[in-house]
Amino acid sequence: MGRILIVFDSKGGSSAEIVQWIREGAVSKGAQVDVCKPEEVRSLDYDLITVGTPMYNDKPMESILNFLGWKGLSNKKVALFIVCFAGIFGMRNFMVRKYLEELKGACRGKVVKMTSFDSAKGPWRKVNRAVCIDFGKELASLSYMAVETT
Ligand SMILES: Cc1cc2nc3c(=O)[nH]c(=O)nc-3n(C[C@H](O)[C@H](O)[C@H](O)COP(=O)(O)O)c2cc1C
Repeated sequence: MGRILIVFDSKGGSSAEIVQWIREGAVSKGAQVDVCKPEEVRSLDYDLITVGTPMYNDKPMESILNFLGWKGLSNKKVALFIVCFAGIFGMRNFMVRKYLEELKGACRGKVVKMTSFDSAKGPWRKVNRAVCIDFGKELASLSYMAVETT
């Protein structure tokens, strides 16, 4: 059974909903999942550490950037995700790639997966939930497999 820590932050609350869906997916595949904010992290003794942040004015949250710089993350498997609405400007691929590459550059761990989610409301919420659950399932696999970094 893989043990996963999800570290995230949020200003408006939409990332918390996304994290719950991710957790749901990972747990459905048998992973043990703990969730906390950066300031609540007490141990990095996990098989996979997943770190998520919303984007505000083209930047991740400061608390998450700080956490990604922790020395303790060296040699740890890390999955990164961002929550953002870059897609609605039709620049999704370009902007999201830029955001994720910058986040990866700030991370001391071994990044094994990066992705992004929309803070979708209305009819898209259902699709978003399914996508987040799938990501959670993938994290469960990544947590116990020897994987290449991105
Ligand atoms: C003031 C403000 C600035 C934002 N800036 C960006 C941005 O630069 N790029 C982007 O893709 N999304 C941006 N967003 C969208 C947020 O990332 C998105 O709403 C996200 O779901 C917020 O997460 P949270 O509710 O967990 O804080 C912005 C939202 C707000 C309110």
